[in-house]
Amino acid sequence: MQPLVDQLLAQAESDILSVRDQQSLDAFRVRYLSRKGEIAGLFEQLKNLSPEERPVLGKSLNALRARVQAAFDKKAQELSSNSANANGIDLTLPGRMPFVGSRHPLTQTLDEIRRIFTGMGFSIADGPELEDDYHNFGALNFPPDHPARDMQDTFFVSRNALLRTHTSPVQIRVMENQPPPVRAIMPGKVYRNEAINARSYCMFHQVEGLCVDKGVTFSELKGTLISFIQQFYGSGLKYRFRPTFFPFTEPSADIYITCFICNGKGCRMCKQLGWLEILGCGMVHPNVFRSVGYDPEKYTGYAFGMGIERIAILRYGIDDIRLFFENDVRFLAQF
Ligand code: DAH
Repeated sequence: MQPLVDQLLAQAESDILSVRDQQSLDAFRVRYLSRKGEIAGLFEQLKNLSPEERPVLGKSLNALRARVQAAFDKKAQELSSNSANANGIDLTLPGRMPFVGSRHPLTQTLDEIRRIFTGMGFSIADGPELEDDYHNFGALNFPPDHPARDMQDTFFVSRNALLRTHTSPVQIRVMENQPPPVRAIMPGKVYRNEAINARSYCMFHQVEGLCVDKGVTFSELKGTLISFIQQFYGSGLKYRFRPTFFPFTEPSADIYITCFICNGKGCRMCKQLGWLEILGCGMVHPNVFRSVGYDPEKYTGYAFGMGIERIAILRYGIDDIRLFFENDVRFLAQF
């Protein structure tokens, strides 16, 4: 009977090699190892042997069963650790990270500015990017020969149509459309005919602010803008107001904060001043009120304007304004 045992072992060892899935593994088990399988069949025949032969062959059958069982166990383990493999999926490969988008750093900056001003009672307004000379300049008290009107600085679409150079014309449109009181911020794109380089671009974003009512004072302007600065930049920061000139406000001021890169010592970012200019502001000029039909004897107001790229550049330490508009995912994904 020993030749039968050897033959069955050879057969089983060759069969196990072609087992590739659970189904054929089961068939293997039924054929060789089950109670009605081929090995059990050989055990059955032991009783037909002589008492001398029986122990010798019994031992050999036990060894056969152990080897076939071991081959089965090894294959079963292989299949379960690789079960996905059988379906053509290699679980040992590194995973692919799902791509999660993020909000543009300018949107994040603007959202924060919006949140702070709406929290102080400002509403949000907008106006057209294609403007006329009157709204962009005339109504804002720019004299006819003001250099900002120059073709060198402004994109003219036709003689009277231009791309707005600031968000201040939205002040005019808001006041033309509603009586006082007004308390609104006006974010949007503005355009200037400038050479494109790391520091300047032909398009950028501003947020305009306007507050008009009876008895609005410069102290109110200061209180509101200082509160904005403290909410946006943190309350420990030093700030200062410096007088300046805008045609549409009188008096006018620029607000500076201590340079947070060098802490006021002077560096490349603040051009060695120790201070960073962050916005322009002032009390609305009576001529601006006259051009929208508000009575300057009855109403006063303040206005302000800031550049969003500039704020985001300072906030995130970005050294090239063009990065905002190239939409390189490697840049955007960092925010
Ligand atoms: N329009 C100004 C600019 O583009 C910014 C500005 C300054 C707006 C003072 C204002 C203001 O409303 O009061 O540079």
